[in-house]
Amino acid sequence: MAAGYTAIPSPHDEDIIPRDIHFGILGNATRHWFDGDMIKTVTADGLSIFLPEGERYFIRSLKHYASKLKDRELAREINGYSVQEAFHTREHEDYNRALQSLGYDVEEMEKPVRYALGVAKNPLHRLAVTCAIEHLTATLSSVTLRRPELLDKAAAPYRRLWMWHALEELEHKAVALDVLKAVTPGMPGWKRYLLRVTAMNATIFPFLVIFLRNVRIFARTDGIKTGIRFWLRFLWVVFVSPGFWRRCMPLVLSYYLPGFDPKNKDDAELIAKARAWLAEEFPAQAAPAGKAG
Ligand SMILES: [Fe+2]
Ligand SMILES: [Fe+2]
Repeated sequence: MAAGYTAIPSPHDEDIIPRDIHFGILGNATRHWFDGDMIKTVTADGLSIFLPEGERYFIRSLKHYASKLKDRELAREINGYSVQEAFHTREHEDYNRALQSLGYDVEEMEKPVRYALGVAKNPLHRLAVTCAIEHLTATLSSVTLRRPELLDKAAAPYRRLWMWHALEELEHKAVALDVLKAVTPGMPGWKRYLLRVTAMNATIFPFLVIFLRNVRIFARTDGIKTGIRFWLRFLWVVFVSPGFWRRCMPLVLSYYLPGFDPKNKDDAELIAKARAWLAEEFPAQAAPAGKAG
């Protein structure tokens, strides 16, 4: 059960609302929490392995530019963004401690994540990588919020965490790319496009390699053989039913369009629905989520 929830709306941007929610995953650590199914579960647990390191990286790469921005509104959005991602980091660390408590070698699985995130040293390249990953998380989030029933058979604390995360990822989906545009005012469009898609390619391929490598570690820990039958079923789960990866593909590919801008996809309705869901799940605390200050 959630231990508490305090909504902390940014006084300047009510679109990005950090919510201090404890989901208590460590206290409710559950093996195969998604429909009692190892493969369905690993599609989400495998993602969580990337998140604490990733979220710290995103905060650093955006904060690097916050004080240099002329657009103070955007600087304030970075602030709301960072608070949201800091709460995410805390909850995903708790999640990964739960994985550790179930016997999974989280440290071993995080190693290549740390290495991959350390490759780009240039702040602009790190910002472009953040834009790419933010697009991937926003994509998965919109798929999740469009079809929340796909998580019906997930254990409640996990379902709540992923729904909350999806909502906040959509709320801040445009911040990183807005910063990239703001800090490269003189850069020709084609060059910014190249920067963007190169960063996406440099992100998505290592992500897949690390993810699949970690799936094998999860399976080995559970005593499950990763032969041809295992991988065929894995493909079925990610591409057919529930098919999260297939559902994500069109949106992921839209990043390769030259005029791509996250703001061109209107998610207001999805966000409103997710906020209503959140108010229902956390009724005692959701009511006062008005403006601060
Ligand atoms: Fe996040
Ligand atoms: Fe994010």
